[in-house]
Amino acid sequence: MTAREPTVSVLLEPGWEQGSLVDDVRRGLGSQPRTLPPTWLYDDVGSRLFDEITTLPEYYPTEAERAILRDHAGDIAAAVDATTLVELGSGTSDKTRLLLDALTAHGRLERFVPVDVSEGTLREAAARLAQAYPGLEVSALVGDFTLHLGHLPEGGRRMVAFLGGTIGNFYLEERGAFLGALADQLSPGDWFLLGTDLVKSADRLIAAYDDPGGVTERFVTNALAVLNRELGADFDLDAFSYVPFWDSRMQRMDLRLRADAPQRVRIPGAGLEVDLAMGEEIRVEISTKFLPSQVDAELAAVGFQVAHRWSDPAGDYAVTLARLG
Ligand code: SAH
Ligand code: AVI
Repeated sequence: MTAREPTVSVLLEPGWEQGSLVDDVRRGLGSQPRTLPPTWLYDDVGSRLFDEITTLPEYYPTEAERAILRDHAGDIAAAVDATTLVELGSGTSDKTRLLLDALTAHGRLERFVPVDVSEGTLREAAARLAQAYPGLEVSALVGDFTLHLGHLPEGGRRMVAFLGGTIGNFYLEERGAFLGALADQLSPGDWFLLGTDLVKSADRLIAAYDDPGGVTERFVTNALAVLNRELGADFDLDAFSYVPFWDSRMQRMDLRLRADAPQRVRIPGAGLEVDLAMGEEIRVEISTKFLPSQVDAELAAVGFQVAHRWSDPAGDYAVTLARLG
């Protein structure tokens, strides 16, 4: 069968990166505690670094999720009646192939809609997937899953996959808003497949986010490089130390950059000057870890009913299949 060309629709308006980044920087760096949203980590460099993270022996979530999908993609395909698979924050959609294999083997899947803010990565992934699945319509959306859920395709039975544990990168209130917005966009009977990293020992978590080769540190520090490039900022990337720690109260990894010396940073594109005291920290990312009961409660709060949950043998990670009631 001849492969169909994938379509790639860009939902981000021209200048989105500038406008949205400026808002985020003013809000996040212009006040205390200083924060940056993790979405900005995924330029081409950051997306490549994330891919490298997924191959690190200490970073278990990717392999745990892959093992679950390897063992249970057939069960998922047998349980759902989806004709469209949407994947949010799809990245390379590498593990998703296990799902696509099973769903196409069951013969119902007609369309795959990967959604990601990282345009280069998404275009490459869409081209590869269209080649690999010639019978499938691949309609990629370059968009922000906090803004563009209203553009999800209509028609047929849908399943939305949100894998990798990316839901853990939201703050608590953002997570509730995201799940509510998703439930709003879906129809009763549509499916949601959610990957979540589970709570485990602090030692293992810290090891997963503080690899000895410094790949995770380079990934997190890349946030400052993005500000230098996009907004003409003058962050000295060498003047920050990477500080990952486990916040046991919030049950999340907290990934920060600490100023090694007092410094004034100019960010002309945002019309901002930031004075950082020695030791002052910028929180670049959180990565929340879950208990299965918490996943159930948060899904139920917006109307999803949990149909199945699968874990890897070590119990490190969970994939939950839920249906909108
Ligand atoms: N799902 C893949 C990738 C996870 S990395 C996996 O399981 O390995 C997180 C992905 O989400 C990246 O590809 C990043 O570009 C994307 N992303 C981050 N913030 C986003 C946003 N606001 N909207 C859409 N995609 C986003
Ligand atoms: C994409 N997300 C689920 C990763 C995580 O584990 O929170 C991002 C990451 N940050 C550092 N390492 C991996």
